[in-house]
Amino acid sequence: MRSDWDVLPEAVTAKIAELMAGRYGVAPAPDGDHAEIAATVTGPDGKVFVKAASSDPGVRSLRYELAANEAVAKVLRYPPAIRWSYEADGWLVVGTEHLDGAHPDLSPGSPDLGLLAQALHELQGTPAPDGSWYGANGRLGFFHPAMDGETLVHSDLNPANLLVTADGLRIVDWAYTTRAAPWVELALLVQWLIGGGHTAAQAESWLAQFPTWPADREALDEFASRNAAKWAGKARQRTERWVHDLGTWTGAWAVYRRRVS
Ligand SMILES: Nc1ncnc2c1ncn2[C@@H]1O[C@H](COP(=O)(O)OP(=O)(O)O)[C@@H](O)[C@H]1O
Ligand SMILES: [Mg+2]
Repeated sequence: MRSDWDVLPEAVTAKIAELMAGRYGVAPAPDGDHAEIAATVTGPDGKVFVKAASSDPGVRSLRYELAANEAVAKVLRYPPAIRWSYEADGWLVVGTEHLDGAHPDLSPGSPDLGLLAQALHELQGTPAPDGSWYGANGRLGFFHPAMDGETLVHSDLNPANLLVTADGLRIVDWAYTTRAAPWVELALLVQWLIGGGHTAAQAESWLAQFPTWPADREALDEFASRNAAKWAGKARQRTERWVHDLGTWTGAWAVYRRRVS
């Protein structure tokens, strides 16, 4: 859950002032809501994107994200470069390369889909780096043996975590980096393609361009139905718009899978 910059103690802001060469301005991130603090910080030498956390789960998640971002940046050009990180007064603070760009349009026929496809081809061919990452079950809370694998899976490629920059597509928010079968990334994209205006059939037909899209229909059926049940459960308990959207989009895919199987 997001907090205001004002909650940061003096020990944290003084260090940021030092790193930003004195004066700086802050603009909270427009999207996402997982990180406690996520903001663009602008100083005389330019912009840095800053994430910070102080709660136990927040620090654990940000520490995980930092480790994953650093590990993935060694093999792929998609994550933002880490500029600095430090701990002060119970806060973990991470400054990364600021990426200027818009979120991609994931509607049918959008040219941004080509950029996403290129990134997916690279991700699909990249083994998870050494490290202790989520497995499919730990990440998603449900499992089918076909979800097991050794591939690097970002697992949260929602458009807010994608930025189309002058240098091409970049991917942020590696907080849920997962080691799993490559098709798990594709299955987790169905909801965002549907959210972008695809029908479930169009989403599947776009994803079928990837050789890892499963021939094993049973695994896909199971994934779609378990994912939809998970989000339907969350939507019953929570009021946020994005949770209800995910309930609708994952539900639409599960209904389609039941119809075609
Ligand atoms: N390095 C970056 N440069 C510019 N904008 C970023 C950067 N990282 C994240 N953002 C923007 O801030 C939003 C929130 O950051 P994110 O890391 O996704 O946090 P959350 O965990 O809250 O989703 C993203 O959706 C994106 O719009
Ligand atoms: Mg995010």
